Amino acid sequence: MESSLKQIEKEALADIKKAPSLDDLKEIEVSYLGRKGKLTLILRGLKDLSPEEKKSIGKLSNEIKTTLETAFDDIAQKLEAKKIASQLEKNFFDTTIPGTARPIGHIHPLSQVQEEVERIFSQMGFAILDGPEIESEYYNFEGLNIPKDHPARDMQDTFFLKDKDDEDHGKMVLRTHTSPVQVRTMEKYGAPLRIIVPGRVFRYEATDASHDTTFYQVEGLLIDKEISLSHLKGVLAEFLTRLFGAPVKVRFRPGYFPFVEPGLEVDFSCLICKEKGCRVCKHTGWIEFMGAGMVHENVLKAGSIDSSKYQGWAFGFGLTRLVMMRHQVSDIRLLTNGDLRFVKQF
Ligand code: FA5
Repeated sequence: MESSLKQIEKEALADIKKAPSLDDLKEIEVSYLGRKGKLTLILRGLKDLSPEEKKSIGKLSNEIKTTLETAFDDIAQKLEAKKIASQLEKNFFDTTIPGTARPIGHIHPLSQVQEEVERIFSQMGFAILDGPEIESEYYNFEGLNIPKDHPARDMQDTFFLKDKDDEDHGKMVLRTHTSPVQVRTMEKYGAPLRIIVPGRVFRYEATDASHDTTFYQVEGLLIDKEISLSHLKGVLAEFLTRLFGAPVKVRFRPGYFPFVEPGLEVDFSCLICKEKGCRVCKHTGWIEFMGAGMVHENVLKAGSIDSSKYQGWAFGFGLTRLVMMRHQVSDIRLLTNGDLRFVKQF
């Protein structure tokens, strides 16, 4: 019996050492020390032995049992540690690795310049207003002294909206300029007024390097008592000087727009050649900038403003063209075609 006990101890220790996992170890433990385990069965046979044998074999059995239990605990601890280590390795997360950088967008060059224009005019006391892009024919034309069938309508090729009429104001159009906001604002706020209106406008035109069907304008309107074109010249020179960060001169030429009288074309001095003449200014020293003039009496009337008390001037310039000039962009279509290779340069 003593030799079979020793044999069991040897086998058990070998099995314990080889146990690949905690579950296997548990099974091995049961197979030796469980109710029907090999060692338990032997211990059950103790009762048939003589008292001397009972004593010596009993002692040996208990020793073996303790040895095995210690071995089980020892290996169980090692296997548990191994299990935790492998789990940690599997789920390892290194908190010191720098995160994945997500590309952040930036402000489009058109919006950048628009924000600058808004900031400068706000500093000069102008409010910034908005108006609808889908506009009634009335505000886009009639209210601005451009009657139906007047040849001046040909100056701006228009997108008309099919089957959409406004009850009070006739057909609907995609606004061809920001000027409709003039009458809307006069109706809403009366005089005096000092506003700019940046916004998107639409023309039914063939596109080329300097013309697009969708572009941005900025409208300006100032109405008050004793207002003259000299105020306009001063405001524009100040605006352009602040925008370009260098002194800019402004020049007026006669121009025709039905909603102003007198009407003007406004140029500013070329900053690239300092008025000496270059390709950008077509060798004139001046850059054509915008339309402007004193607000026509009929427009003041449409806006319910008493023209015997108030006068004012208005201007409208192409924000898109200003951006082109600023960044020397050779084709207007690059600004709105969504090509990131272009936009990322600004
Ligand atoms: C007007 O739109 C007038 N409403 C401006 C105005 C306002 C005059 C107030 C008097 C008083 P015009 O059609 O010239 O005017 O357009 C103004 C500016 O818009 C032009 O100088 C030009 O810079 C820009 N522009 C006109 N057509 C296009 C186009 N197809 N693509 C890009 N920019 C354009």
